[in-house]
This record gives sequence, C-alpha cells and structure tokens, in this order.
Amino acid sequence: MHAPILAPSILAGDHANLASSAAIVAATGLEWLHLDIMDGHFVPNLSFGPQTVAALRGKSKLFFDTHLMLDEPHRYIEAFARAGAGLITIHIEPALDHAAALARIKALGCRRGIALNPGTPPEAVKPFLPHVELVLAMTVQPGFGGQAFRADVLPKIARLDAWRREAALDFRLEVDGGIDLKTAAACRAAGTDTFVAGTSFFNAPDRAAYAAAIANL
Ligand code: DX5
Ligand code: ZN
Repeated sequence: MHAPILAPSILAGDHANLASSAAIVAATGLEWLHLDIMDGHFVPNLSFGPQTVAALRGKSKLFFDTHLMLDEPHRYIEAFARAGAGLITIHIEPALDHAAALARIKALGCRRGIALNPGTPPEAVKPFLPHVELVLAMTVQPGFGGQAFRADVLPKIARLDAWRREAALDFRLEVDGGIDLKTAAACRAAGTDTFVAGTSFFNAPDRAAYAAAIANL
C-alpha cells in the first residue's frame, strides 16, 4: 500500500496570488499541488490554463498533479506537459482515443492519470489500469470546490483497490472532492492513498497538523 499523499487543490487558493498559495503548500512540508483545469464544457466552470501553470512552475518546486476537466484534453496535453505538469489526468467520460492520449502523456515524460466521475462505473477505466500511474475517483461531481463528499463512491474505490491488488498493479488511487479528515479516513479504509483537498486544507486552522493527520492515516 502506498504511503498517503495530501495534494492541496489550488482552486481553493488565492487566485489573485496563486504563487502565495503554492508557497503555503510547500511551507507545510507537502510535495504535491493539485491543479484543476476546467473548460466550461466538460464542467460548468472555468479555471485557468497552461500559461498560469507555466508561471507557477517558475515559482514553485512542487509536483504538479494536473487534473484536466476538459472535453478535448488531447488538444492540450502537450501544452500542460511543457508548462511543467508532473502528472496529467484525463477523464474517461468524453469520447476520445484515451489510449493514444495516455501514450502521449507518457511520451512527454509525465505520469498518466485517468479520472472517473461519481456516476461512472469502475469497469469504464478497467482496461486502462495497466497503463496509468494514478486513478482519480471523483467524490463530487467536478466543477466546483466546497461540495459535499459522496459516500456512495466508496464501494467503487474498494473495487478499484481490489483490481489493483489482484493484478499486482501499483497505480495510486486518488480521491477529489469534499475531502476532510473524516472523509479521508473513510477513503483510506477503502484503499485510497492520494487525497486532494481544497477547502479543508486552505481553511484548516493548523495546516501542518492536518497534513500530519493525513500522513498518519
Ligand atoms: C472539483 C475539483 C476539486 C476541488 C476540490 O471540480 O476537481 O479538486 O478543488 O475542492 P474541495 O476540496 O473544496 O471539495
Ligand atoms: Zn481536481
């Protein structure tokens, strides 16, 4: 089982000063930063693009966990790789050549991730499990921070973890949406090792204590 990683989502940071939000994450002793990219089509919201990621790359040594909530992620993979993404996650729901997109991510030197929405069955990503370094099980319908955790996703996480063990695969299993210490503990019990947290991290009264509690799950 992988050691827990906490990946704060900069979506809940200060959008007038994202570099300061990244610096808060680094000062907490964390290594990952989750970057939520939204296109206004796959999700009903917009966030920021490769230019912002490249600007942040110049100001931060954090590992960029880049979550593409895009209908046509294949059109932007190269731009995000060049901007400094360490991991690029695409969603399974839009119709596209996922195998080719994942191969492109790898060829560009990035880790590969595949994401699925709360209503998407785990079988949808099963063929791709040997070809990714991370599977992201959304625990809210993507688009906005600050939503309530969907406990109905827990059996799906357990299923993905079981398949991982049965096939002796070593992808990370990430959750995103409504994560706090309590919901993270439930996800950990189901097999999660990578925890995205926006609201709960940036609003935590003691971020170091929060990070330590996640590390000890
Ligand atoms: C949802 C995003 C999440 C979001 C999580 O569309 O993918 O990463 O920032 O925010 P919280 O932790 O506030 O639910
Ligand atoms: Zn995300």
